[in-house]
Amino acid sequence: MRPRVVCVGSLNHDITVWVPRRPRPDETIHGDRVAEFRGGKGANQIVAAARLGADTSMIGCVGEDPRGDFLLAGLDADGVDRTGVLRVPDPTGVALITIDPDDVSIIVVAGANAALTPSMVERSAGTIGSADVLLLQGEVSAAASEAAARVARSGGTRVVFNPAPFNEVAPAVVPLADVVIVNREEARLLGEVAVETVVTTLGGGGSEVSHRGEVTAVPGFGATVVDPTGAGDCFAAALAVSLAEGADPVEAARFANAAGACAVEVAGAQPSMPTREMVEARLIP
Ligand code: RIB
Repeated sequence: MRPRVVCVGSLNHDITVWVPRRPRPDETIHGDRVAEFRGGKGANQIVAAARLGADTSMIGCVGEDPRGDFLLAGLDADGVDRTGVLRVPDPTGVALITIDPDDVSIIVVAGANAALTPSMVERSAGTIGSADVLLLQGEVSAAASEAAARVARSGGTRVVFNPAPFNEVAPAVVPLADVVIVNREEARLLGEVAVETVVTTLGGGGSEVSHRGEVTAVPGFGATVVDPTGAGDCFAAALAVSLAEGADPVEAARFANAAGACAVEVAGAQPSMPTREMVEARLIP
């Protein structure tokens, strides 16, 4: 049986520029390359889950504009059910992404993502309640995210929360989460939490699983980094799919480490999400 994964989250049009270094204040520099991709942490995670073999549904908002058309076409191409993605008068969300040789930085203009309300989410209660896993992040409102988590819990759907970016969504959703996925900085901001499973991503160093108080280091896989954008989303989706298939948290983290390693090797968020076959090939020693 294919796992059922639903995501309540953001959809963004990513505009990415590669630069040799950051400009100083008041300075103009030349970038090396610019490209546009489908992104948004929510949409990235659901597309990754679809490519890994899950039946998937996305709930969120895009604008009535060409960027919205572009993002919806991507969900269609990956077979994601998008009946829960509403078109609203606000412009589609945009992310401006800068990649230098050492780091990635992202500025998100939420646009339509900010229009998602609890009542819009509750219209998809049947979809959320019948899924194995609900994926949540920090790019739609705390109220909408909390509403989704409450519907999930009442339907027995596991809540997997990735508090990125770290903001007011975290205190609203963490008490309702079964699994929280953080990077090192988000772990610091989150502090101690009473959640059954906390998974900390460590970049090329793999991840660390804390499950019912037992901590396990899970080694990473080698990768040639082209663009780390979306690798964390890929990890979250892969962990969710693997857990929904019945893996224990450590096995799921190993699968997610392999998926994340695949994702950093391709430019763009959604273009980099690997297929099941690619991840399984990476898992072979
Ligand atoms: O996690 C990567 C994503 O963050 C990008 O696709 C961008 O849209 C921002 O939401």
